[in-house]
Amino acid sequence: MAFYVVAMPQPEFARWLAHEAGPASTPTTPQAQEGMHLFTASGCGACHTVRGTSATGGIGPDLSHVGGRLSLAAATLPNDEAAFARWIKDNQHIKPGNLMPPYGIFSESELAAVSNYLAGLR
Ligand code: HEC
Repeated sequence: MAFYVVAMPQPEFARWLAHEAGPASTPTTPQAQEGMHLFTASGCGACHTVRGTSATGGIGPDLSHVGGRLSLAAATLPNDEAAFARWIKDNQHIKPGNLMPPYGIFSESELAAVSNYLAGLR
């Protein structure tokens, strides 16, 4: 498992930490709102928490601010909408044996909506 180390002045760190400890942002665009609905309706919340929503799972990482990270899946992928889509659809090829099932149920536009929602969780 790889990860980034970011050094910053203490006051900046305190602001970052306070933001990370807070609830997830609420989506404002129709595409991101559709993504949130699909996320909630597709069982993602059984394993993931998005603070301030009905998703309270504890098996996978907390996704409350996932769009603000430097990478996805422990530096396996960059953090952008295309990478979210790849991960959701094909994570077992990206990281074989990980505990998340691949999701082939989404149409291209649904996958784009879920990815847009997650990328907006900063
Ligand atoms: C059965 C449990 C489970 C379900 C259901 C599940 N996930 Fe995951 N998910 C995981 C686990 C475990 C990981 C961490 C995998 C790893 O890196 O080893 C993960 C990782 C992720 C990541 C990368 C997070 C990071 O920290 O980089 C995203 C994004 C994600 N899941 C989105 C989703 C979405 C969207 C759904 C629903 C369509 C979903 N997951 C459903 C277990 C689950």
